[in-house]
Amino acid sequence: MRRVHDLETPAVLVDLDVVESNIARMAERARASGVRLRPHAKTHKVVEIARRQVAAGAVGLSLAKTSEAEVFADAGFEDLFVAYPVVGADKARRLLALAERLRRLTGGVDSVEGASTLAGAFRAAGRVLDVMLKVDVGFHRVGVPPERALETARRLADLPGLRLRGIFTHAGQGYHAETPEGVREVARHEGRTMAAVADELRKAGLALEEVSVGSTPTAREAMAQAGVTECRPGNYVYHDGTQVALGTCAPSDCALTVLATVVSVSGADRAVVDAGSKTLSSDPLRPRPGGYGQLAGRRSRIQRLSEEHGVIVVEGGEPFRVGERVRILPNHACVVSNLHDRVFGVRGDAVEGEMKVAARGRIE
Ligand SMILES: Cc1ncc(COP(=O)(O)O)c(C=O)c1O
Repeated sequence: MRRVHDLETPAVLVDLDVVESNIARMAERARASGVRLRPHAKTHKVVEIARRQVAAGAVGLSLAKTSEAEVFADAGFEDLFVAYPVVGADKARRLLALAERLRRLTGGVDSVEGASTLAGAFRAAGRVLDVMLKVDVGFHRVGVPPERALETARRLADLPGLRLRGIFTHAGQGYHAETPEGVREVARHEGRTMAAVADELRKAGLALEEVSVGSTPTAREAMAQAGVTECRPGNYVYHDGTQVALGTCAPSDCALTVLATVVSVSGADRAVVDAGSKTLSSDPLRPRPGGYGQLAGRRSRIQRLSEEHGVIVVEGGEPFRVGERVRILPNHACVVSNLHDRVFGVRGDAVEGEMKVAARGRIE
């Protein structure tokens, strides 16, 4: 059996005990709230982990990219939701090919223009694509404002080749809330706004099946709001430094760490590891900046990055020596996944095996 210290660095470690407990906890929360769980696989992009999520009760997966959905379709997953505004004839062709081999495929839309292209392709093929309309509950990225949802939904429902299955949102503004109560407020607003929009659409005669919310910080509270039927958290499977800073989880709930080697200690105030932005990404800590990675069991943090160097600013004379190994909790686990071809599943010091990050780099 390989041990963690046998691995070459930098290496991404995934603590399987923690992954299993994160999966079980979220599945139990969804069951207790009576909602379907459709985890976002963008966080791990690993087939074996998605299988564990489905085995624990997830109804299917959410993906951000059509090409990510293709990877999971190839692996045998049958119910996929591309939770992103899918736009363009090229994507429509790919969705059509996917629809032909899945039990259920759903696409995200937030405009009649974008939806019309999908509708045209499906209609011409004699098929119907299920779509969900994205509603903006305050993140102000994509999605129609709640007050425009009815008008857009009516026009979507009139497009032959599409079936409006539901509405969905992602309250990413929760990542900027300064306190755990602030996050909970965002979550309640997320769930209640979506339930109110669904009510309005149904009163206007539109048959909505799904009212889908979800981000890891807001999942617990948003899924508990009356009228919500589905939740799509992604990051919960690993968690990261940002979730700890937001109060979503404890450090012991973080499954993904980066194993790195100290390669230089050329001043008393700094040490340098072989993990820079190529390994950790340059995503900042949220909700407040705080360096680029926390070292397990140490007070010092990585405060500066270049591509191959992570510069630790040494706190209070903490000793570091060249050649020693450290474990780094990154700010954002999802982007770390996208930088690596494989991750190592570990239990304690034992390396159980490698997992391919199968959907990494799938950008179309
Ligand atoms: C549309 C959508 N749904 C769900 C998620 C999952 O959110 P989180 O990563 O906070 O779990 C994301 C994340 O970016 C998203 O964009």
